[in-house]
Amino acid sequence: MQNGVSFGLPYRRPRIAKPEDLPHLGEISALGFKESDVFRYARPKGDEFFQDAVASFTNWFRSQMLDKRALILVTEDWQPNEPDDYDPSFPLTGTAKEGEGKRVVVGVSAWYLPQESRRVGKFVSPAADVPDEVPSEDRDLCKERLDIFRKVKDEAECKYFKDIGPKNYEIDPRKSIRPTIICNKIVVHPAFQRLGHATAMLRWIQQLCNCDCLKQGVISPRAVEPLFRKVGYETIGEMQVPDDGDVRGFTQHVMWCHWIPAKVPV
Ligand SMILES: CC(C)(COP(=O)(O)OP(=O)(O)OC[C@H]1O[C@@H](n2cnc3c(N)ncnc32)[C@H](O)[C@@H]1OP(=O)(O)O)[C@@H](O)C(=O)NCCC(=O)NCCS
Repeated sequence: MQNGVSFGLPYRRPRIAKPEDLPHLGEISALGFKESDVFRYARPKGDEFFQDAVASFTNWFRSQMLDKRALILVTEDWQPNEPDDYDPSFPLTGTAKEGEGKRVVVGVSAWYLPQESRRVGKFVSPAADVPDEVPSEDRDLCKERLDIFRKVKDEAECKYFKDIGPKNYEIDPRKSIRPTIICNKIVVHPAFQRLGHATAMLRWIQQLCNCDCLKQGVISPRAVEPLFRKVGYETIGEMQVPDDGDVRGFTQHVMWCHWIPAKVPV
């Protein structure tokens, strides 16, 4: 039982992130997103100033830990004891046999609850436990492009997912029957991908949504759509990030997933 919700899940059981996980969350995100369109677009010097990207992701997760509407889930896996054995270029060697290595956080997802959710405030970390922001010079970042991306994403979320952001968007009533929990990020350390970590986090959220009659929404890179489709999401729209100077823009897909009534009321 966690925060009033009971989840009987298979092998990789996600848990709510703790303040001590923060350094891992920044690192996993920077490593996992490094090849993504958003990273290429907004962090053109990401290779050169990789630690600045780690710091800025760490600070973003820190802000979410203090936000009453945010929910951060993590999954863990076994990492071999000897650092020399660890070969991130070959994913399946990332894991050790259960019990033989060290358990480390390898996956993280960040969710945003609708304001009417009864879980608001239930997953927040006590402020006293959350460390200070880490210094970040943002030398990797093109702030203007990050702002463009955030603006386009905010507009798409407002248009499709009803209750977050400004209310002055025309909403298709078919799409706003229920409040929606938004997936802001989901990322798995490259050495531990395709092992079911993302699926485990999505299933955890799905059970929460089934209990609470919430829809789920995400704006997903096109390449990652199969992950979401596999757990029941469908594509309902498109979001276009414009070209900016020499840098190509890109398209992402807006997806959502309906809740299924829980068999046992909670
Ligand atoms: C997308 C991501 C989170 C998936 O994590 P994962 O733990 O490897 O996913 P799972 O092992 O649960 O995959 C389940 C299924 O989703 C699909 N899938 C997963 N990753 C995929 C990818 N990169 N491309 C296409 N399909 C993918 C597959 O169908 C997979 O099933 P299979 O392995 O049996 O073929 C991970 O690849 C990642 O961190 N990518 C970079 C960050 C990112 O783009 N995040 C999404 C937007 S916020």
